[in-house]
Parts: sequence; structure tokens; C-alpha cells
Amino acid sequence: MSPAIKKPSGVFITLEGGEGSGKTTQARRLCDWLTTQGRKVLHTREPGGTLLAERLRSLLLDHSVETIAPETEAWLILAARRQHVDHVIKPALQQGMIVVCDRFSDSTIAYQGYGRGLDLRVLRTMNNWATGRLVPHLTLLFDVPIRIGLTRRRSQRASQNRLDRETSRFHEKVRAGFRTLAQQEPRRMVVFDASLPLESVQQNVAEVIATWLNTRRIRQLRQR
Ligand code: TMP
Repeated sequence: MSPAIKKPSGVFITLEGGEGSGKTTQARRLCDWLTTQGRKVLHTREPGGTLLAERLRSLLLDHSVETIAPETEAWLILAARRQHVDHVIKPALQQGMIVVCDRFSDSTIAYQGYGRGLDLRVLRTMNNWATGRLVPHLTLLFDVPIRIGLTRRRSQRASQNRLDRETSRFHEKVRAGFRTLAQQEPRRMVVFDASLPLESVQQNVAEVIATWLNTRRIRQLRQR
């Protein structure tokens, strides 16, 4: 392979889950822990991560703009993703960093696919186009019953964003979607019981990540 198209050597970890699943706190704690282990870490999020993508995020989450069609929502999220992949994620992976991303493609399948009812096959094709087929090495799914998640979310935020305001039925469909994805890809997606206290979930995450990174290192050493 020519040096110009060097294979990315970093690690791409995503965190997924419904509203109030605690994944944002877990992402922050995971990054802090990895940094103390001497790893070079990039913490980022979706939609967002670049100037343009953060602007698209604000529009997407603002409930005071006009009604947004499901297809428009998907296009905006995927446009933001392309910017994020090109400007932030891929360069960091090329530099050998651990990229920890709060939400990525699985959210699109869960929210726009299972939640909004957009065609899953079309969405996957569009998403492949947006990501250039970049798939996380590992995905942590924080699963929490909707009632607990939405109650937590309401206690954390004074105002509700456009997606927080969706019906419980919508959030149930999203949760079921995430769980289906985890069943389909058990090697990539690890499910955590996010109804447990934050510290217990954090401990479980650290154990899974430590084992996973170690196994990956041994596999890479064997391949040399
Ligand atoms: P957050 O508040 O958990 O950071 O997520 C922002 C919102 O964006 C959340 O309600 C889920 C939604 N979202 C989608 O609907 N599809 C996506 O692909 C992504 C990344 C987020």
C-alpha cells in the first residue's frame, strides 16, 4: 500500500443509547481514564464535531424551527457526519489516536430508521456514502428503560430539545432498534445496563475496554 493511503492505525469507539442513558457522562469518564493510561484520546460527538456540523446540530435540535421531515432530518445528520468523518475522525485515526465518539451511525439507524420509519436499506446506503464505510471498532450501547431515561433527562435539562419532546412510543421504537442492532452485531456492540448507578456502569465499561484493548494488542502482535 502506498504511504499516501496509509491504513488508519487508531481505534474508533462509539457510545450509543437513548435519551438519559448516561452515555455522555460515561464518554467523558472513559476519555479521562484512557488519558490516565497514557493513551492519546480524541473525544467528539454527533451530530457535531466541526463548526458546520455543530451548526447543523443546533438546527436539528431546535424545536422552534419549522417542522422537519424525517428525510430532511436524515440528510442533515448525514451531511454533518461527512464533515465530521473527513475533518476530525479520519485524521485522528490516521495519527493513531483513540477516537471516542458520542453517537454515530447506529443512532441514525435507531432514530431515523426504527424511530421515524425510514427504509433501513436506503438509510444504510446513504450512511455508507456519508462515512466512506467507516465502521466503529467497538460500540458501547447504554440500554435503559424509557421511563427511567426520560425522567433522568427531564431532571438534567431545563429545556427539552426537539427529539426529547418525541412521544414515549417513538423512544420505545428507538430503544428496540438499538437492541436489534446489538443482537445483529454482538462482536462489535457491547450492551450495558444503564439503569445501574453511574459508578457501576463506569466500572463495567472500564473492564470491557481494558480487556478489549488488551486482546486487540495481542492479536496485532501475533500478526507481525
Ligand atoms: P445527544 O443529546 O444524545 O447528544 O443527541 C442528540 C440528539 O440527536 C438525540 O436526540 C439523538 C439525535 N440523533 C439522531 O436522531 N440521529 C443520529 O444519527 C444522531 C447522531 C443523533
